[in-house]
Amino acid sequence: MTAHAKELEARHLLQVYGQLDIDIDGASGVYLQAGDQRILDLYGGHAVACLGYGHPELLNVMHEQAQRLFFQSNAVALPVRAEAAGALAEFAATGLERVFFCNTGAEANENALRIACRLTGRKRVAAIEHGFHGRSAAAGAVTYGASERWYGFPRAPFEVDFIERNNPDAAEVIGHDTAAVIIELVQGVAGAVDLDTPFVKAVADACSRHGALLIVDEVQSGIGRCGEPFAADLYGIQPDLLTTAKSLAGGFPCGALLLTEAIASELSPGDLGTTFGGGPLACALVAAVLKIVRRDNLMANAKERFAQLAAALPLGPVTGIQGKGLLIGLRCEPPARDVQKALLAAGMLTGSSADPHVLRLLPPLVLEARHIDEFLEALNKVPV
Ligand SMILES: Cc1ncc(COP(=O)(O)O)c(C=O)c1O
Repeated sequence: MTAHAKELEARHLLQVYGQLDIDIDGASGVYLQAGDQRILDLYGGHAVACLGYGHPELLNVMHEQAQRLFFQSNAVALPVRAEAAGALAEFAATGLERVFFCNTGAEANENALRIACRLTGRKRVAAIEHGFHGRSAAAGAVTYGASERWYGFPRAPFEVDFIERNNPDAAEVIGHDTAAVIIELVQGVAGAVDLDTPFVKAVADACSRHGALLIVDEVQSGIGRCGEPFAADLYGIQPDLLTTAKSLAGGFPCGALLLTEAIASELSPGDLGTTFGGGPLACALVAAVLKIVRRDNLMANAKERFAQLAAALPLGPVTGIQGKGLLIGLRCEPPARDVQKALLAAGMLTGSSADPHVLRLLPPLVLEARHIDEFLEALNKVPV
């Protein structure tokens, strides 16, 4: 069965992904079904399935919206789009009152970087070492290591300075010619590395001193995953622009850029645009996801599940834990890939990271205490 799906894909799909050895037939709640095997999903479709699978309210909202109005472009104002933008601004509650909907994280970052260069008239952007921001021209340019590995363009759209992670002195590179700093407060792809508060504050202070815009990339860390609406809330900083995607519509493609009123007032019709961004299906789901995350206390749950897991460590191959809420990096003594394989054989799907010794957990926010217990039991049996 596994070989079959991979073989079918290999006929026509571009072979650019390393894939896991499972063939998923369906999913429900926090479990995937792969033939006879039930798999606990601690990967969440890469932090996307924030409400798990087959959530009845999401399915209803999608069905109703599809029947009422399946699609309409941004050439027409829609109540469902207005409602989603209002819900997102209210959810963020960080002075980010304006929303631009798009489709992906890279697109949100691309637009944030464009706005920063345009409004400041500056040609340099700073980013943090080991950060990941997406695969488009500007987002790829600020992704650490991309130029050596996959970037491909002959040059970046701006000069880029990479700031050493967690070194407050390195923030000195931010100057009067810096348009923006883009930062992932919990670096997901790097292995759920939560940045030190003094470092983040030094970066934010340097931005305000020099008039550089602070872009916080919450594509992976946002929508309650870190235990607050956004990780920025944990660090007590005020972003000028904030990007999010992944969990935003619970699995339907959707990205968003949030901006302060001051920045928004500088933009006019025609400055940004997208065909699919802000479509009614995505917007109906955004409003529903945000409502459920708040109503069902899923942010508190994210914090509690982290604490539950941390209290049981070290265990088996795991020596330490990093990250926030349900964006977790587990430091492993053996290579993380070996631990991931052993856990998959035991019916647990986990994620890898850029750090060969860090296993990443990005599960649905509806994960319960009993699921963590199940995971701990499996972890304890992994050969060290
Ligand atoms: C922090 C962060 N920013 C941006 C992106 C790019 O998002 P997308 O794949 O939706 O373009 C990702 C994707 O993993 C991410 O983790």
